[in-house]
Amino acid sequence: MITNSIDKAIHALTKDEVVAIPTETVYGLSANAYSEKAVKKIFDLKKRPLYNPLIVHIKGASSLTEVAQNIPDLAYKLAEIFWPGPLTLLLEKQAHVSDLVTSGKKTVAVRVPDHPRTLELLENLPFPLVAPSANLFGSISPTCTQHVSNYFGNSIDILEGGECRKGIESTIIGFDNEDAIIYRHGSIPVEEIEKITGKLKTITNNDQSPEAPGMLSRHYAPNTDTYLTDDVPGSIRKFEGKRIGLLLFKQPIQHENITYQEVLSASANLDEAAKNFYAFLHHLDSKNLDVIIAERLPESGLGKTINDKLERATKKGNPKI
Ligand code: TXA
Ligand code: MG
Repeated sequence: MITNSIDKAIHALTKDEVVAIPTETVYGLSANAYSEKAVKKIFDLKKRPLYNPLIVHIKGASSLTEVAQNIPDLAYKLAEIFWPGPLTLLLEKQAHVSDLVTSGKKTVAVRVPDHPRTLELLENLPFPLVAPSANLFGSISPTCTQHVSNYFGNSIDILEGGECRKGIESTIIGFDNEDAIIYRHGSIPVEEIEKITGKLKTITNNDQSPEAPGMLSRHYAPNTDTYLTDDVPGSIRKFEGKRIGLLLFKQPIQHENITYQEVLSASANLDEAAKNFYAFLHHLDSKNLDVIIAERLPESGLGKTINDKLERATKKGNPKI
């Protein structure tokens, strides 16, 4: 049930229930990070494999040592600059943080969300909140309460917080001694982080035992076959006779074979494109199309993040037709 009541959310969370919460990135499915019973409910609801760890949301950097230890100076520096905000840090966990939260890893993912209602919620709770994106595992992330209720109906309380300002998940950064490593592209472009950290290292993933399941090769996927391309007219020709939907960067296309199209940002603004990205994918996915053709964005700043999500939404190569 969608609610405006923070008190109701506090009540439910204190009773080990799951509550969907707004953040600046996407809506999260939250629960008491210190209650295994509550955390388990999230995995069940999302149909999420237990090997995929959760992000712990805290009310401020001053609460960091409650869940993490041996925190590198570089992590504090990043926290100071980017929190509250869409940056998740991977840090050595405190012993009391459950293996269920971290999927048995020695690190815990932590962030301070930048949404007034969720910060108020965290201020009034005696525990931090784990919160994965409020979608079924592998599907498109939710950026408004309607998306969340499409996935979960009335089975949980959903705290109203409007449309997500950023629209794309947090950027995830881990550490290897003095080096910073990117684990997931997100709302803060790599270039912004590299101004502080220097060149980021990347990790190699392996789908059987993923270091960063956010980097799984298939993820964030619409149900409709989706195809990423630099050559939209060429792809339209390839799918002639099909019900085609387009996800375009800045310019609509006049073409008789198009059933539906969305333009991410008419002014080519990447922040606007990011904010619209999941919402438009949800929309296209509801249009009963045979195929979604997505245009590759410029490979810099948030364009890189969106291309990365699209690569995972489409897998590599052609969809089945
Ligand atoms: O913006 C966000 O980060 C949103 C909002 C709700 O805060 N949350 C989110 O959570 O995107 P989720 O569960 O959908 O994605 C969390 C990602 C997963 O890909 C998970 O594998 C990774 O974080 N992760 C969590 N803990 C980790 C760890 N200890 N080591 C490596 N990756 C970790
Ligand atoms: Mg997710």
